[in-house]
Amino acid sequence: MKKWSLSFRLWHWLNAFVVLALLGTVFLRKTFLSWRDNSEILVTKLSSIQIEISSEQGALLAKAVRAPMWEWHIIMGYALSFLILYRIVLFFTPSGKQNYTDIGSASLHKKMVKVGYIGIYTVLVFMAGSGLLLTFHEELALLKETTETIKELHEAVFNLVWVFVAFHIAGVVMAEITDEKGIVSDMINGGEH
Ligand code: HEM
Ligand code: HEM
Repeated sequence: MKKWSLSFRLWHWLNAFVVLALLGTVFLRKTFLSWRDNSEILVTKLSSIQIEISSEQGALLAKAVRAPMWEWHIIMGYALSFLILYRIVLFFTPSGKQNYTDIGSASLHKKMVKVGYIGIYTVLVFMAGSGLLLTFHEELALLKETTETIKELHEAVFNLVWVFVAFHIAGVVMAEITDEKGIVSDMINGGEH
């Protein structure tokens, strides 16, 4: 039997793509499409061609330029929410639960890897839950302060996401070149038990 079923591999790579895409949208929002930086550019450049706009108008324009990109944060956010539900279903399959059975007999290193996975699942569930609350705050009639608090938490926990992703990728690359050769190709071709 394959170590990783086709459906689990599909889940893993779709999930990896979606999480990296979400991080990508945040990167763009905070760098090239930052409304603070771009509104300044707009105000100065327009002024150099004798068009005067206020910094508020600059901000409005910069946010309008950012909006189509940020829509992808929400689209990828919905995708992540579905992938989390799909992961729960996969837990009832051999591939989905193999990392979480016989934990007692695993080495300390393996135990830590498994705890790390449980940690990232918790973080992803939090990001999806808080992200959906932010998206539907009007429909849910959430108070302004509540929405602000959720946004602060969503933004703070984002740091755990990229830290995990960095450690995870470094970890599997290290495993691949040391004592677990084939660990990455197993996640591509399914591997053998
Ligand atoms: C793009 C480079 C990536 C590579 C090469 C990679 C590779 C792997 C491999 C080889 C495993 C199996 C490890 C084992 O046998 O225990 C794994 C598991 C896992 N990966 Fe990735 N991964 C990548 C990106 C990501 C990203 C971006 C996420 C998003 C959070 C992610 C989430 C997970 C999770 C949660 C597991 C544990 C699966 C389980 O529950 O058993 N991976 N990955
Ligand atoms: C890996 C998962 C996610 C990460 C790393 C992430 C990261 C972030 C970050 C850093 C921000 C703050 C951006 C800023 O103000 O500079 C943000 C805002 C937001 N996120 Fe996420 N997010 C994730 C998942 C989700 C999901 C699943 C949804 C919804 C379906 C979502 C919806 C939102 C919304 C609505 C905002 C507020 C945007 C605004 O105030 O204009 N996010 N996210």
